[in-house]
Amino acid sequence: MSKIAELPTDQLQALHARVKGEYDEFRARGLKLDMTRGKPAPEQLDLANGLLTLPGNGDYFSDAKEDGRNYGNTQGLAEARAMVSTLMGATPDRIIIGDNASLAMMHDSIVWALLKGVPGSDRPWSKNEQIAFLCPVPGYDRHFGICEEYGIRMIPVPLTGHGPDMDAVEKLAADPAVKGMWCVPKYANPTGEVYSADTVRRLAAMKTGAPDFRLFWDNAYAVHHLTDSENTLVNILDACAEAGNPDRAFVFASTSKITFAGAGLAFFASSDANVKWYLARSSKRTIGPDKLNQIRHVRFLKDAAGIDAHMQKHRALLAPKFDAVLDALDAKLGGTGVAEWTRPEGGYFVSVDGLEGTAAKVVTLAKDAGLALTPAGATWPLRNDPQDRTLRLAPSYPALDEVRTAAQGIAICLLLAGVEKLLAERA
Ligand SMILES: Cc1ncc(COP(=O)(O)O)c(C=O)c1O
Repeated sequence: MSKIAELPTDQLQALHARVKGEYDEFRARGLKLDMTRGKPAPEQLDLANGLLTLPGNGDYFSDAKEDGRNYGNTQGLAEARAMVSTLMGATPDRIIIGDNASLAMMHDSIVWALLKGVPGSDRPWSKNEQIAFLCPVPGYDRHFGICEEYGIRMIPVPLTGHGPDMDAVEKLAADPAVKGMWCVPKYANPTGEVYSADTVRRLAAMKTGAPDFRLFWDNAYAVHHLTDSENTLVNILDACAEAGNPDRAFVFASTSKITFAGAGLAFFASSDANVKWYLARSSKRTIGPDKLNQIRHVRFLKDAAGIDAHMQKHRALLAPKFDAVLDALDAKLGGTGVAEWTRPEGGYFVSVDGLEGTAAKVVTLAKDAGLALTPAGATWPLRNDPQDRTLRLAPSYPALDEVRTAAQGIAICLLLAGVEKLLAERA
């Protein structure tokens, strides 16, 4: 199809009648589909069901003979830290294992920074009149939710397809009020982009106005490839150390989308100073993490190669769902100029930009047709997408045939909203 903005009005009206007919037909099917949250599908969770019978009776001792059933070892078992050393890009002594949610570790890091400061702070962050975080957009709604909860001003920074616009970041980070930045550096939520080597090095080396500035490096999708091009990322901890900013990055990840989203292991990695800082705080909060779950994960995944092999099984289930979404968008919208979308090589999302001012309309159209989409604006701080364009599609949870149907419905809604906007402009 040619760019529909260039069609004469009578042809645009004819197209509208046709697409409206398709939409009405779709709605008449009375479907109930949900493409909102990036949850693993039940069959992905089934891949890790081997965990449910581990560790076997009597197998509750660590390599160092700690009793996994008892209190203790706030940092986490050495063999579990060794298992994720490659994934985290850090030696085991610089890794801490939390319980099941890396989001909780991010949340705690921010709360502790607000109440106590971090290494290099002259006072707790909350003692500053105002503090701010840089927020690459579109981004992860729950990151923005933490900032919103604690009154941290959020400054959106555009993503470029290979990470944030670094000229903008370097300028903004010169402000001493800017204490941190959210980064999902690999297969970002929701754009799927991977930060380039140059981006990572600039983030590590840039001058910051705040001496205690931190990168919140949320590598949630480190090993979550969808294609053979297993993108690699420059190691942020090494890059920071080389640039003379060894304490700049807090690295987070988890096995939420490797084993069980609700019962996996979460990880924090950083410099010696930051690890000591984190442990000093977390040892007030807990007498020790769930070490049985750590033993269970070590028995099940074993090592970096075991993790990679397991992720291939996820890829086999997920890649066809992403293909179904991209096929439907290509078939219906390719060349029309009403939408642009990402082609992620990993992660959990496809990000679609409709025509300006149509995202909320698309979500409403989809809802009326029985198709739940993530609310428009969700990927922006305070849910405010100033251009009302971005939609986040999460194809992981529904079954493949549902994803196919949902994607066709989304494409129809995008086209209908786009045509209606163009017609309204000509009215
Ligand atoms: C970028 C990102 N970080 C973190 C999480 C949640 O991680 P966890 O389950 O370890 O709390 C998600 C889940 O969707 C995510 O997309």
